[in-house]
Amino acid sequence: MSQISDERIPNNVDLSGDKRLQRALEQWQPHFLDWWKQMGPEGFQGDDVYLRTAVSVEPGGWAHFDHVKMPDYRWGIFLEPKQEGRLHHFGDSIGQPVWDEVPGELRNMLRRLIVTQGDTEPASVEQQRHLGSTAPSLYDLRNLFQVNVEEGRHLWAMVYLLQRYFGRDGREEAEELLKRRSGDSDRPRILGAFNEPTSHWLSFFMFTMFTDRDGKYQLSALAESAFDPLARTCRFMLTEEAHHMFVGETGVGRIVERTCELMKQDPNEDARAAGGIDLPTMQKYINLWYTLSLDLFGGEISSNAADAFAAGVKGRYKEATRYQEHTGLGATRAVEEVQGGKVVSSDVPLRNAMNEILRDDFVEDCQRGVDRWNKTIREAGLSFELKLPSRRFHRQIGAFAAVKTDPSGTLLSEDEWNRRSGDWLPSEADEVHVKSLMQPVHEPGKIAHWIAPPRRGINGQPFAFEYVRRPG
Ligand SMILES: [Fe+2]
Ligand SMILES: [Fe+2]
Repeated sequence: MSQISDERIPNNVDLSGDKRLQRALEQWQPHFLDWWKQMGPEGFQGDDVYLRTAVSVEPGGWAHFDHVKMPDYRWGIFLEPKQEGRLHHFGDSIGQPVWDEVPGELRNMLRRLIVTQGDTEPASVEQQRHLGSTAPSLYDLRNLFQVNVEEGRHLWAMVYLLQRYFGRDGREEAEELLKRRSGDSDRPRILGAFNEPTSHWLSFFMFTMFTDRDGKYQLSALAESAFDPLARTCRFMLTEEAHHMFVGETGVGRIVERTCELMKQDPNEDARAAGGIDLPTMQKYINLWYTLSLDLFGGEISSNAADAFAAGVKGRYKEATRYQEHTGLGATRAVEEVQGGKVVSSDVPLRNAMNEILRDDFVEDCQRGVDRWNKTIREAGLSFELKLPSRRFHRQIGAFAAVKTDPSGTLLSEDEWNRRSGDWLPSEADEVHVKSLMQPVHEPGKIAHWIAPPRRGINGQPFAFEYVRRPG
C-alpha cells in the first residue's frame, strides 16, 4: 500500500518502470477526469462519500473505506499477481505457455473484446448519472456512487490493457471510450443494454441485478484467457463486481419485501394504491432487464465465439475447474432456431455454441436470485410468483430477434404482440407511476416509502450512518 500511495496513478504493475506507458496514461488521466465531471454522477461531486478504494490485491486487505469526494477517488490499475508457469488450459493450444504479449494474429480479436468490455464501464456511469437526486436513502446513494466509481476503475483496467499492449491503436481506442455516449444517436455505446435509459431506481436495481451479472460472466470467461494480462485484470475486476450484483439483488429484494408489507396493509392487497411498486409491475421490469441482458451474450450460434475459444482467449465459466474436456471438439450442443414459423432444435459443434453455454450459467444464476425474492413473498403469506421469462422472449440479438413470443416462449403474430406486449413490458404509465415514487430521502437513517431498509449497513456501519455528507 505504501509503495503505491504516492503515485499519481495507484497501481501494482510497476508503472514507474515503464515511462512511456506512464506518460501515456498520465495524458489520458485528465481526459478521464473531464469525462467524469461532465458525465459522472450529477449534483454530488462535492459530497463526501463513504467509499471503498482498491489499494492492493491482497486477499482481505484490498479495500480501504473512507469519506472521499468522488473526483478525488484514486482510480488505479490492479492486476492479480502473475502465476509463473501458467499454461493454456483450453482450446487448440493446451499445454503451451500463456502469452504475456498480444500474438499478432489475435490482435484484432483481443482488441475488439477489450474495447467492447471497456465501453460498458463508462456507459453504465452515464446511464446512472441522474439517480442521485432521487435516492431512497443515504445508504443507497452511497452504493450507487460505489458502483459508479468502480465502473470508472474498470474503464481504467481496460484502458491500461489498450495502452500497454496495443500501441497507437490502443491509445486511439482509449480516447474513443471517452467520446461515445450512452443513448446518443450519433455516437452510441457499443451494446444495446448500455444505451437504454436507467431513469429510476427500480431500473437501477434491475440493471445491477441482471446487466452487471452479464458482466460477471463475460469477465469470468475472460479470466480464463491465455492472454495473461487480460486474465489477471478480469480476476481482480470480479472482486468488485460482486458488490454491484449484491446491490441489485438486495435492492430488488428490499422492494419486494416492502411491497409485501404494503399489500398486507391494503384491503385489496394493492401495493400500488398504497404508494408502492406492485409485483406485476416488478415482473415487467424483470422481463425487460433480464432479456436486454440475455442479448449481451450474443447469438446462439457464433463463429466468433468458436474462434475465441479455439485460440484460448475466452473460455467457459470456470473452465479450469468445472470441465474435464477442454478442447470443445467432438461434441455438439442443441440450440433453438426458428424455421418456417416453428421453433426447431438443431445440434451445432460445441465451440459454436459457447455464447449459449455461458448464457446457461447466467440464467441459472439469475434464477437463484428470483428464488430468494419468491421466498420473501411466500414468507409474507402471499401467493404470487416472480418468473424469468423464456430466453426466446423480447430478444433483439440471435435466433429469436426476428420473431415475437410471449413470456413463456410461444410464438406470436405481430398483431398479437402489439396487442399484448404492454402486459409484459413496462408501459408509459408504469414509468410514470414508478417515477412518481422517486422522491429523494437524503437524511441519515430515513428511507423512502416504497423500499425496505437493508438488514445491515456497509463495512459494519449501521444503516443510520452518514454514508454521504452533503456540503454544508
Ligand atoms: Fe464493470
Ligand atoms: Fe459492475
